[in-house]
Amino acid sequence: MTERSAEPVSAWTTYRRLLAYAGPYGGFTALAVIGMLFDALASGAFTWSLQPMLDDLFEARDPFAIRWLPMFLVGLFLLRGIASFATDYGMARVGRSVVRDLRNAVFQRYQALPASWFDREPSGQIIARITYSAEQVAQAVADALKVAVLDSLMVLVMIGVMIYQSASLTLYLFIMMPLTGLVWSVVGRRFRRYNRRIQSAVGEVTGMVEEAVDGHREVRIYAGQERETTRFREAVERNLRLNLTVAITSGLSTALIQVVAASALAAIVWRATRPDLLDTMTSGTFMSLIGAMLVMLPSLKRLTTVQAMMQRGIAAADDLFAVLDTPAECDSGQRPLLRTRGELVLHGVSLRYEAGDSFALRDISLRCPPGSVTALVGRSGSGKSSLVSLVPRFYEPSAGEITLDDVALQDYRLADLRAQIALVSQRVVLFAGSIADNIAFGSLHGVAREAIIEAAKAANAWEFIERLPQGLDSPVGEGGALLSGGQRQRIAIARALLKNAPYPDPRRSHQRARQ
Ligand SMILES: Nc1ncnc2c1ncn2[C@@H]1O[C@H](COP(=O)(O)OP(=O)(O)OP(=O)(O)O)[C@@H](O)[C@H]1O
Ligand SMILES: [Mg+2]
Repeated sequence: MTERSAEPVSAWTTYRRLLAYAGPYGGFTALAVIGMLFDALASGAFTWSLQPMLDDLFEARDPFAIRWLPMFLVGLFLLRGIASFATDYGMARVGRSVVRDLRNAVFQRYQALPASWFDREPSGQIIARITYSAEQVAQAVADALKVAVLDSLMVLVMIGVMIYQSASLTLYLFIMMPLTGLVWSVVGRRFRRYNRRIQSAVGEVTGMVEEAVDGHREVRIYAGQERETTRFREAVERNLRLNLTVAITSGLSTALIQVVAASALAAIVWRATRPDLLDTMTSGTFMSLIGAMLVMLPSLKRLTTVQAMMQRGIAAADDLFAVLDTPAECDSGQRPLLRTRGELVLHGVSLRYEAGDSFALRDISLRCPPGSVTALVGRSGSGKSSLVSLVPRFYEPSAGEITLDDVALQDYRLADLRAQIALVSQRVVLFAGSIADNIAFGSLHGVAREAIIEAAKAANAWEFIERLPQGLDSPVGEGGALLSGGQRQRIAIARALLKNAPYPDPRRSHQRARQ
């Protein structure tokens, strides 16, 4: 298994690293936090105003209060509206930006990871990381942060209002604090464990869908529907059970917290109605105090669920960071290489794949002189493709050395080395786009149209391309689905020939590429 299953780094370390991603959007974070502050203060002012509202308006009928309190209320909620808008927009801005940056970072990493990494990583995981995990991270950064800050402020402000109204009654409130903390920490640990499993379950589902969609013809011919459906049903079932476990944990913790809070409320009512306090307390003071307590309850409730959100985000972020921390392909060579003479020599090369336990190649020595053609012939599984994949350094030999023009492969710059090689693999790979895009792919993008046609002619592809209504600009479909197998192969060959063609600068007429 990969790093993911290793004991995770501490949640705090991960969170700090995530916050670093939010760093560039500090302005929006500040805006949001200021909004939260005003939001909480306005709510505090409102619960405080319950006291003069009852005592001055209805008991004392104070004309000043009668005149100004309604205005005060409108002003208060106007302020609160502006504050909560600033909060929501600021947090969304930060959260979405972080998702974009993480997606870009992970995708970029995918372009740099070695072939062996792709061998062992399930493709569903690879996709789910960008689609699903990144979203979870957004929640941790934005939603959870919002709840954590806003509701903590809310609780603080409300406690302030309560202490202001009656310090001795507020003391009773603190009965529930240690209990809440206990429930919180137990729940948090459970969440983290389950969310990690939910993530791999999502990856598993994605992978199965891919497989069944890619292989839809095979599935029908070999009557594999039953097997695919059963396997899929089991996977989504596992997914459901995991999610339910999280829901149960979350629901139970919420209920528990509320019971604790209600007990504290009961204790306050009991205390307030003892004779010694009953005389000093106005109904306004009592209402304001209870009001503050009631406003505080949903905040406390959300503070318990924020743990789940945050843990989900952190589990997802752990997974993303593990990929970002996976070393890229080794590219330490310094030597530039413009155009090779083409003298390729293998000196006692062996290869043992990380995943395999026996040698795929053992002590191979071979010399391919410049200007000659070398064909490798052998049984299936004898190591021909493996040998070839060593030349662009998709894998490193376990022993021995390969030289090109008498220089070891790893001494060249990787990009320069690969620029010398054209590849038509056993599995033809075409990319979404037009035929021209596929022949002039990557560094070839932008070559003259005539050169593309030339290559297509040399690969015997021109005859069918010419007959297509859109010619070179015809779309190939996803993975080349709109073309025949032979047509796909010919395009791959044209691509290889175009790369091989000696021309001074592949970008010499980039204007012509595509409209
Ligand atoms: N990525 C990989 N990870 C682990 N083992 C591999 C990998 N690729 C190939 N192998 C193993 O290495 C051996 C050689 O495989 P290779 O693909 O080089 O054979 P080949 O000669 O190209 O066969 P074919 O003619 O069928 O294409 C096989 O036993 C195969 O199981
Ligand atoms: Mg092969």
